[in-house]
Amino acid sequence: MDFRGRDIISIRDLTREEISFILDRAEEMEKSPPGNVLRGKILACLFYEPSTRTRLSFEAAMKRLGGEVIGFTEAGVSSVAKGESLIDTVRTVEGYSDVIVIRHPREGAARLCAGIADIPVINAGDGSNQHPTQTLLDLYTIRREKNRLDVDVAILGDLKYGRTVHSLAYALGMFNARITLISPRGLEMPREVLSDIKKAGAEIQEVTSLEETLKGIDVLYVTRIQRERFPDMEEYEKVKGAYRLTADMLRDVREGMIILHPLPRVDEISPEVDSTKHARYFHQVKYGVPVRMALLKLILEG
Ligand code: NCD
Repeated sequence: MDFRGRDIISIRDLTREEISFILDRAEEMEKSPPGNVLRGKILACLFYEPSTRTRLSFEAAMKRLGGEVIGFTEAGVSSVAKGESLIDTVRTVEGYSDVIVIRHPREGAARLCAGIADIPVINAGDGSNQHPTQTLLDLYTIRREKNRLDVDVAILGDLKYGRTVHSLAYALGMFNARITLISPRGLEMPREVLSDIKKAGAEIQEVTSLEETLKGIDVLYVTRIQRERFPDMEEYEKVKGAYRLTADMLRDVREGMIILHPLPRVDEISPEVDSTKHARYFHQVKYGVPVRMALLKLILEG
């Protein structure tokens, strides 16, 4: 399997076998990090949207492998503020680096960059569309915690604007997970995403009640409402606080049920859940590093 020079734009660019291969390499990275195999390589982080975990874990991953990182964390400090186009920025940055990681508010921005740059481009989130490396670490967490991916999983939250849940649902479908979707009215999974997942043969259903679903699942994946993507703040006000997971809701769940969240959390998981045996979101955060180490090594070194 050769990943050298490849762009990672959508989780659908990867096959099930390729995803498993990356997760295997990530496991090796976690157990025995290989040292400075990316010495002399430069990662450029172009972040046109806020980020804590994705950017810092990419940076940590690159540095743990001996590489260097350049970039900006806010378009306002780059020449974008002077009116430079994304295309000109990418043409410039590819002259300074070996791989580009980009996060952008517009859907399709990462694909556009990949078409321009001769070096590999990794999508760290494009609007509401896709966030493939988050999915890799989500799958890694599930596999590590449950030893398999064909789990009973519920995905709760803003399934319309959330990009992590789009990538994740596609991927879990590939691995024969049984997926239940729960969202406030108006924030359902886009019909075209749902129909693509179904066409690929996944077992997926939509329900309205979290309480009923909780008892029969291995994994609960919670996401926040994506406030910044609402075209109308009045619409946001209507759904704000529509769901909240509390510790007493976990009484009848399966013994080994785990709760994941890509973070940031706003109010959808009550803090007292953090100390229950089900909470795994802060483990999940850490797995971002070995997963991104594996991906960077595969793309840059093969
Ligand atoms: C997510 C994102 O940016 O899409 N964050 C992340 O990368 N861990 C989720 C979110 O912002 O809600």
